[in-house]
Amino acid sequence: MSNPLAAGSLDGKRVLVTGSSRGIGADTVGYFAEAGASVVINYRNKEARAAKIANAIRENGGQALIVGADLTDPESVQAMFDRVNAELGGLDVLVLNASGGMESGMGDDYAMTLNRDAQVNVLKGALALLEPGSRVVFVTSHQAHFIRTTPTMPEYEPVARSKRAGEDALRAMLPELDAAGIEFVVVSGDMIEGTITATLLERMNPGAIGSRRESAGKLYNVSEFAAEVASAAIDPIPANHTRYVGDISDFDQSEE
Ligand SMILES: NC(=O)c1ccc[n+]([C@@H]2O[C@H](COP(=O)([O-])OP(=O)(O)OC[C@H]3O[C@@H](n4cnc5c(N)ncnc54)[C@H](OP(=O)(O)O)[C@@H]3O)[C@@H](O)[C@H]2O)c1
Repeated sequence: MSNPLAAGSLDGKRVLVTGSSRGIGADTVGYFAEAGASVVINYRNKEARAAKIANAIRENGGQALIVGADLTDPESVQAMFDRVNAELGGLDVLVLNASGGMESGMGDDYAMTLNRDAQVNVLKGALALLEPGSRVVFVTSHQAHFIRTTPTMPEYEPVARSKRAGEDALRAMLPELDAAGIEFVVVSGDMIEGTITATLLERMNPGAIGSRRESAGKLYNVSEFAAEVASAAIDPIPANHTRYVGDISDFDQSEE
């Protein structure tokens, strides 16, 4: 997948992508850096992987900072923003990409803690760094976005409900964001081929990926979906603040 952002189009811009040490976040941060932005790669505990991504960006002439922070730990989040402020003086784009809830041994409420409470806390913490004209992008799945109207796989349901709760809580901040001149867009995609989550769900529901691919006509891969997330940071924002990636005709849109 080629970079949807033109070279130099983000010169001077500062972008933080949460959970960018792997998967969709890692590819997204790569597109921003190639377009000239100074990027902040956030990771939870995979420092070596984050450092590898940052080194590759620097070798290509880009600018990257890696900052470890467990987003469910408010002190760790504050320390991340203090560092970003000290190094970059602010942010032009914040991508809320990090997500989870299917990890084992994390406690029953972990999905809500990460996908709702931590997202709100991260955005609140970022407000001091986001200037008028900046943009926040929240990444989610169709299975989560439409969970109130369209059932999903039982193993994914707690994650879907928590991600939708997070999306709702962020949308509730729209008046405050508007007043501060900060734009907000949700990017929603179907199952993404090649991700750990999709692979896990396929293992528990054999045929799940094939049947979604057949129904949707096409499933995006990591680099294709990351290109949509990166584009969402600069493209005009749809009236309902939602950028749907791929076909949504199988999902009940009565609440859209
Ligand atoms: N996978 C799909 O099929 C799919 C479909 C549609 C939408 N999406 C959305 O796309 C986004 C990225 O998905 P993905 O599949 O690429 O995710 P992933 O491979 O599970 O990566 C998650 C990222 O989040 C980080 N992370 C997890 N818990 C964290 C915490 N407590 N604090 C800080 N960082 C944390 C991880 O860091 P470490 O590596 O350090 O643990 C990793 O960088 C998510 O919002 C997801 O809902 C995914």
